[in-house]
Amino acid sequence: MTKPMNAIAVLTSGGDAPGMNAAIRTVVQTAVHRGVSVVGVRGGFRGLMAGDFTPLDPYVVANIIPRGGTMLGSARAPRFKEEEGQQEAVINLERMGIGGLIVIGGNGSQTGALAMHARGFPTVGVASTIDNDLHGFEMTIGVDTALNTALGMIDRLRDTASSHNRAFVVEVMGRDSGYLATMTGIASGAEMILTPEFPATMADVREGFRQAHAHRKSHFIIIAAEGSPLKAMDVVAGINAMEGHFYEGRLSILGHVQRGGSPMIFDRLLAARSAALATASLLDGKSGYVAGLSGGDYRLVPVNDAITPNVKVTKELFELAGVLGE
Ligand code: F6P
Repeated sequence: MTKPMNAIAVLTSGGDAPGMNAAIRTVVQTAVHRGVSVVGVRGGFRGLMAGDFTPLDPYVVANIIPRGGTMLGSARAPRFKEEEGQQEAVINLERMGIGGLIVIGGNGSQTGALAMHARGFPTVGVASTIDNDLHGFEMTIGVDTALNTALGMIDRLRDTASSHNRAFVVEVMGRDSGYLATMTGIASGAEMILTPEFPATMADVREGFRQAHAHRKSHFIIIAAEGSPLKAMDVVAGINAMEGHFYEGRLSILGHVQRGGSPMIFDRLLAARSAALATASLLDGKSGYVAGLSGGDYRLVPVNDAITPNVKVTKELFELAGVLGE
């Protein structure tokens, strides 16, 4: 029989994502409803190693649903990859009488959750990252809001690009993934998308220009993922150095703006459903899973599977984006 848990901890880790606060609140409400107290860890795994804990209750988490960012703070903690750091984390939790941990975050964070589980500390994750880079999940918390934020900016940039016959190279987030670039590219009808998955060259840009000009387009929008080998800044320089380039090049880096802002309803609901499932599962004695929207329902995916490398930007999607941008 599993030992009953009297207290659990919750942390947010890696890049913050709109909806993380809603997820924290759900963890607290769900646990307290079952008579279990909750401790928040400040600053992700770094705080876990330092024992930086704060008590959470329904009063403390009141009014946080609409807030972007994470009330617990987040950090990247390379030292947690080391055995010593993980041991410190377990000792800190046990010393406080905490019997389980909820990790809200993306790929790197769930790798940390796996380390805790492997050490025998009951841990369940909540899928949350704007990069949507967790295997087995359709959408993770934060993706929808980040996409909508980027899309709104791209639509605005297209207005001014059309008025001035310009080519805008818009850099969106995604160091290792072209997901945000591809989705906003399709949704905005961008002329070209630059991703790490399907690298392009300046010759492709030149050919795109020729085609757009032939189609009498008054603008050319390129959405470049941060991780594209062809860097947004170099593309703009290349465009302006081209002879007879049809469109004047301008650069716009959207950057971290995509990570902020109030979560949209889809992210709030994702947060409520995923975090409720994660908390209930942890309290029922499960460990080594990540909760989220998977296969059309809210399910637990083994953390080992969730962190396997996965490519959501398929050839089919990339080609669709190409056709729609012609
Ligand atoms: O992992 C989320 C993310 O926003 C990526 O899209 C981006 O590449 C990275 O974080 C940026 O990291 P930092 O906030 O450390 O600059």
